[in-house]
Amino acid sequence: MPGTDNSGNQLPGLPAAPPPGASALPTGTFDGVDVFVTGAGTGLGKAIAAEFARLGAGIVIASRKPEHLEAGGEAMEEIGARWLTVACDIREPDQIAAAFDAAAEAGFHPSVLVNNAAANFPVPAEDMSPNAWRTVIDITLNGTYFCSREFGRRHLAAGTPASIINIGATYAWTGGPGFAHSAAAKAGIVNLTESLAVEWGPYGIQVNCLVPGLMPHEDMTADIKGNLSRTNDKDSCQPALRVGAPRELGWAATFLASPYARFISGHTLVVDGANWQRRSLTNPAVVTIRDQMGKGAFTF
Ligand code: HXC
Ligand code: NAP
Repeated sequence: MPGTDNSGNQLPGLPAAPPPGASALPTGTFDGVDVFVTGAGTGLGKAIAAEFARLGAGIVIASRKPEHLEAGGEAMEEIGARWLTVACDIREPDQIAAAFDAAAEAGFHPSVLVNNAAANFPVPAEDMSPNAWRTVIDITLNGTYFCSREFGRRHLAAGTPASIINIGATYAWTGGPGFAHSAAAKAGIVNLTESLAVEWGPYGIQVNCLVPGLMPHEDMTADIKGNLSRTNDKDSCQPALRVGAPRELGWAATFLASPYARFISGHTLVVDGANWQRRSLTNPAVVTIRDQMGKGAFTF
């Protein structure tokens, strides 16, 4: 039985997360601080923005789709935060600059940037079109760099301290069968974090990376939901015996950007209940990605 040992004892797994709305940081930690979060109209980005908002931050949400911008704005309104949404495709440096300009005009001066937006879909590597590869690299890796560049240059010019939090994934280290494009992009993000932390540390800019484990949420794309539905029991497949709650990533993000983490830079923090270390000499039988995805034999 999942979640039990050979004697039938129920295993506890890691303790549950505190309830929504709880916080480890003092009330008002981010009073007077503005936070720019890409892709914060959905899923983990929205959860990260919510935790900053609860601690007093003003939130700027940047993404492409009006319905996502609207959903993000509604979530911030419910919390009672100052917020702004800006339409922006992070593949386009000019649109990113315009988004920061629009924020400034509206009185938002972000000193925290969360590079959360990403693109991903499961596909066997041999089936992937050049444009599919380019699209994921362009949004996930190039977009993260372009946003960091715009934000970093503004703070360097102004001489003001700042904090960047990139969002990675554990297949940066393991490889990501079925997700070769995203895994390569996330490996680039971990590496970029380290370069920028050293280059910009002398100017007062921290650069860290946060890596979520499996954190399902209702906004996941149909492609990702479909991929997850092929696994029987998400909780019992994790050493924690549970998946992560999006707010657990939000709490980690607020800590990294808080005054209590000022000496942490160039670091990648994994919030996954030790799932990515779960590897032994005997693994489950190999099933090809094609078979896992129910695809027929490859034809050229
Ligand atoms: C194969 C696909 C595909 C699929 C798109 N493409 N979906 N190929 N399988 N399922 C190909 C297209 O055919 C096209 O190539 C190219 O990718 C670009 O597709 P477009 O639809 O034109 O791109 P665009 O409109 O820019 O949209 C980008 C997108 C889309 C990535 C395709 O899904 C998107 O906007 N996603 C944003 C949200 C997202 O991806 N979230 C996931 C983050 S979760 P051709 O050759 O036909 O032109 C995550 C980790 C989760 O990262 C881990 C959980 C386990
Ligand atoms: P999600 O709900 O699909 O969010 C992705 C967001 O990125 C969307 O809000 C989307 O908004 C935005 N986006 C995509 N392309 C963009 C572009 N070109 N320009 C601007 N914004 C763009 O996914 P999620 O699960 O919350 O994932 C958030 C982050 O966590 C990602 O970096 C992901 O790789 C990482 N992650 C998630 C999990 C998990 O279990 N959920 C696990 C590992 C890593 P628009 O469509 O409006 O542009």
